[in-house]
Amino acid sequence: MRLRLGVNIDHVATVRNARGGDHPDPVRAAQIVAAVGGDGITAHLREDRRHIRDEDLARIQASTNLPLNLEMAATDEMVEIALRHRPHAACIVPERREERTTEGGLDAAGQHNRLAPIVSRLRDAGIRVSLFIAPEVRQLEAAMRLGAPVVEFHTGEYAHADAASAPAQLTRLAEMAALAVKNGIEPHAGHGLTYENVQPVAAIPQLAELNIGHYLIGEAIFTGLEHAVRRMRDLMDAAR
Ligand code: PXP
Repeated sequence: MRLRLGVNIDHVATVRNARGGDHPDPVRAAQIVAAVGGDGITAHLREDRRHIRDEDLARIQASTNLPLNLEMAATDEMVEIALRHRPHAACIVPERREERTTEGGLDAAGQHNRLAPIVSRLRDAGIRVSLFIAPEVRQLEAAMRLGAPVVEFHTGEYAHADAASAPAQLTRLAEMAALAVKNGIEPHAGHGLTYENVQPVAAIPQLAELNIGHYLIGEAIFTGLEHAVRRMRDLMDAAR
């Protein structure tokens, strides 16, 4: 199975917003990702709109044929926006206003009652729902109870592990990806992935998609987005 690469373009919007104008435009980034063989665009509309803004969503959707994966908090406001825009996929993430990035997985186990109607509404609208969870049995079982067709495993603990503990984090990801597939759930992974650490994750055969953002956009400053996406793609392919 070919491993898909979803490119998170949030931080193109972060740079744009630093000056309050319209450059650099995340739409242009989406078009470049499409031109160099990326498989999808990921964008996180945060409550505080610190990077992607409401009007970006329709512009991104209109600009390429790539599927849009909308990362969103489990709030009524975001559900309404998702239902209006009908992205290909919606990845439900935990969101804390003061955090710099999505620091951990969603507590799908602890929030079943809040998440259940949200997952149903999105699914009923034909949106592929994914839950961004830690690679833990308890959270995967909760995703199964919620009827989510996809989970995205948070790779932050793997990405930030030292050399001694990275193998254990990787084993955990591999075991959870296998368990997901066994239970009919498509496993994705993302957060903190770089040229240096992507290959052991990409080699996990059950994973269907990686979503990578901050590092790629950072590298794009030095080598261009085309080159950065191509290099990540090559590393992923070589790992399979
Ligand atoms: N997947 C999800 C669900 C995310 O929220 C993020 C951003 O935190 C990513 C993937 C991409 O992570 P990064 O920007 O560290 O590559």
